[in-house]
Amino acid sequence: MLKGKHIILGITGGIAAYKSVSLLRLLVKAGAEVQVVITPAGKEFITPVTLSALSGKPVISEFFTANTGQWNSHVDIGLWADAMVIAPATASTIGKMANGVADNMLVTTYLSAKAPVFIAPAMDLDMMAHPSTTRNLATLRSWGNHIIEPATGELASHLMGRGRMEEPERIVEVLDRFFDTKDTLKGKKILITAGPTHEKIDPVRFIGNYSSGKMGYAIAEEAAARGAEVTLVSGPVEIAPRHESITLVKVESALEMLAACEEHFDSSDWAVMCAAVADYRPEHSASSKIKRGDKGDPMELRLVANPDIAATLGKRKRSGQLIAGFALETDNETDNAIGKLNRKNLDMIVLNSLRDKGAGFRTDTNKVSIITRGGERTDYPLKSKTEVASDILDTLLKL
Ligand code: C5P
Repeated sequence: MLKGKHIILGITGGIAAYKSVSLLRLLVKAGAEVQVVITPAGKEFITPVTLSALSGKPVISEFFTANTGQWNSHVDIGLWADAMVIAPATASTIGKMANGVADNMLVTTYLSAKAPVFIAPAMDLDMMAHPSTTRNLATLRSWGNHIIEPATGELASHLMGRGRMEEPERIVEVLDRFFDTKDTLKGKKILITAGPTHEKIDPVRFIGNYSSGKMGYAIAEEAAARGAEVTLVSGPVEIAPRHESITLVKVESALEMLAACEEHFDSSDWAVMCAAVADYRPEHSASSKIKRGDKGDPMELRLVANPDIAATLGKRKRSGQLIAGFALETDNETDNAIGKLNRKNLDMIVLNSLRDKGAGFRTDTNKVSIITRGGERTDYPLKSKTEVASDILDTLLKL
């Protein structure tokens, strides 16, 4: 997918700059045309001669080429690019990008670039964990920039921790996948539920569950990145959507989630039911805080069943609409999942097991099997939730 693509490779002053040489080689090998833009500090780590030899283009670092006086137009380069990738991205460059400090050619080019931007941070673990870096990365993310998360491992300081720049092969894979899946969901409207529901007991207490919303939010981000218009109906979670094509509808209880889904389902092409909806709610929620009894007597809470949102939408589904559900099982996994698929009139179900390490609630990874209505089953290895999101959307596209 990178053949003929115009890529700006931004290199900053970090030890990981040596990996940029491999990245450049891989991009060129994949058929991309690469323009290297390097910061002054970057040149302390790696020479422009190597980079221009490999890219077949003069490396740009200064606003002017010293001996000819030729002006390097950051605007032209920014418009020329199909993508910009900054690898390694130091804490300093990330800070400048997030705050518009355009004191070098790389940040100036970034501010002019219309193309999607990929940022591969590389720094020591404490710099990576600093609130300043966290905030700046969150800012860049909120503008739609793609952060290629650093790996955990041995760092240049010989300390172990998070901050290793992602390997060049992986970065090329991310870019390749971006161009491969770009616009594959253009024109599609997708309704996604995510997170837990909170079922009120009294003004200060609720029945909830451990769902973090990460899986549903990952699906929403991936779908939006592929061009879909997403309505994300979310229970209470600590994360927020980043992509501008995601409309967030915040709800608390299963009844509120159902109402929001009923409102948006008819205009949606697909629905992905990822929320961990409480099966029961207190029959009555007290209007004032329930007091503790003097004698320590047991307290009774009568629960009534919540509506099944997926099944309700399944009944309303018209031809052409698709619904994907999730099944988090502890035993009899396959049978239970297929039972849900049929009972709720779904088109596919994503099965994850609490038995698998790294799968299910609160993790950044998941290990799933996807079973389609036709009975076809695919077992996937442990992957990041973003990659799992991509597999789910690919399956829906096939259906
Ligand atoms: O039956 P179970 O809760 O295991 O089914 C899980 C699937 O059904 C998930 O896709 C979940 O989002 C959906 N569900 C729902 N409404 C409920 C319960 C589950 O939409 N009340």
